[in-house]
Amino acid sequence: MFRPGEVMKTIDFRSDTVTLPTAEMLEAIKQAKLGDDVMEEDPTVIALETMAAKRFGKESALLVPSGTMANLVSVMTHCNRGDEMICDANAHVYYYEVGAVSAIAGVIPRLVEGKRGIFTLEQLESAFRGQELHFPNTSLLEIENTHNRGGGSVWPLADIKAACDFAHDNELKVHMDGARVFNASVASGINVKKYAEQVDSLMFCLSKGLSCPVGSLIVGEQEFIARARKNRKMLGGGMRQAGVIAAPGIIALNKMVDRLQDDHDNAKLMAKGLANEIGLKLDPGTVQTNIVVADVSPMTAEDFIAFATKQGVLALSFGKYAVRLVTHRGIEKEHIEQALGRFSKLKR
Ligand SMILES: Cc1ncc(COP(=O)(O)O)c(C=O)c1O
Repeated sequence: MFRPGEVMKTIDFRSDTVTLPTAEMLEAIKQAKLGDDVMEEDPTVIALETMAAKRFGKESALLVPSGTMANLVSVMTHCNRGDEMICDANAHVYYYEVGAVSAIAGVIPRLVEGKRGIFTLEQLESAFRGQELHFPNTSLLEIENTHNRGGGSVWPLADIKAACDFAHDNELKVHMDGARVFNASVASGINVKKYAEQVDSLMFCLSKGLSCPVGSLIVGEQEFIARARKNRKMLGGGMRQAGVIAAPGIIALNKMVDRLQDDHDNAKLMAKGLANEIGLKLDPGTVQTNIVVADVSPMTAEDFIAFATKQGVLALSFGKYAVRLVTHRGIEKEHIEQALGRFSKLKR
């Protein structure tokens, strides 16, 4: 509980992108061996890409500046202009990426109303219209694991497999937005290779729970990654001494994955507190990873966030009455308790 006279520390639950690099990462940046990565001569980038490909059991990998570019490059590499891509109505690639897949890649999303971002084979079957004269060519299925707007939900492997088998039987490629795929893996106990083997491409972010300052990677077959490299260049994502980005990425893959369990434990603690102590509408049982989405009605999200900010707790709006709180490195159990204490005036 905050006492007058104490300096109130801001607790930032807005996103796991606010994590700062560790001292070891900063040192690795300083020490990194560098070269021109557009000429494929940066040894640190090559080391990270090789490591990522191996970790996911794919032939090749490509470092890109952001998750948004990773999705766009992947979609562009799989699809021709005018093609259709099936994805969840709340998919990040559709909801939060400024319409890039349409505006830049010329791809039309066909939306499926999944449950917390996860849709069934039956839903996929009915979304797939088949190849017919009047319809756009459907060439891609996109799935997001964990699902951000779904509240960090984890796609069950059996559902991924069913969706991917259907896609492949119908000559669709599959891209996984695995911005937080390591959260999915830690929560499910399923090796990321198992997710990757179902899909044609997968992207993951270094700059979220893994604490890196910048960067995402795409993994896939060599031929796909070679074409993706060209699309990355077209979008202006060819970076020169990108080893400064790759160096912390190597540390992230080696050292920052297992600790995600702490973030999941803290998110569950937060969810229980918000539901049981503060009386917000949410089922703590639905929290699987590091994202908590709470219904704050009858308050609006805007009012809740204004109140929380005054109490030194930052969160993001997730709709008129919904707020999102994300746990990450730098948020400990005691910060959850402090945040709940600061919310106690709201008790219902
Ligand atoms: C599921 C998902 N995909 C993609 C992205 C985009 O990543 P970036 O912010 O690095 O562009 C995000 C960012 O939050 C995300 O949550």
